[in-house]
Amino acid sequence: MPIFKKVKPDDDGFYTAVSSTAIPSNQPIKFEINGEPILLIRWQGELLAVSARCPHAAADLSKGEFYRGKIECPDHGYVFDVRNGRTLWPEDEVCRLKRFEVKEVDGVVKVRG
Ligand code: FES
Repeated sequence: MPIFKKVKPDDDGFYTAVSSTAIPSNQPIKFEINGEPILLIRWQGELLAVSARCPHAAADLSKGEFYRGKIECPDHGYVFDVRNGRTLWPEDEVCRLKRFEVKEVDGVVKVRG
């Protein structure tokens, strides 16, 4: 897991994360920016960045299961849609998975922290 401690963002507020080639399809990669654990996910050709900290009770979502654009928390089984952060299960839960802006520039992934 690449870790960048106390790094500074570029002028647009994006932090350099990892090389584009470090992110395979359908396999979340965890890294940190200034102590914030983040998952980078390449799914159906789209690159997404979400918090690796479950919004329910802060479990490590990198230890959860990722399938068809959803991630299931390993602690209590909450399921989140990584495209929009919505909680899919339980259906009456209103917490949302935090999302981050992400872009790829010249083979490098950058995330707005
Ligand atoms: S900590 Fe993730 S569902 Fe409870």
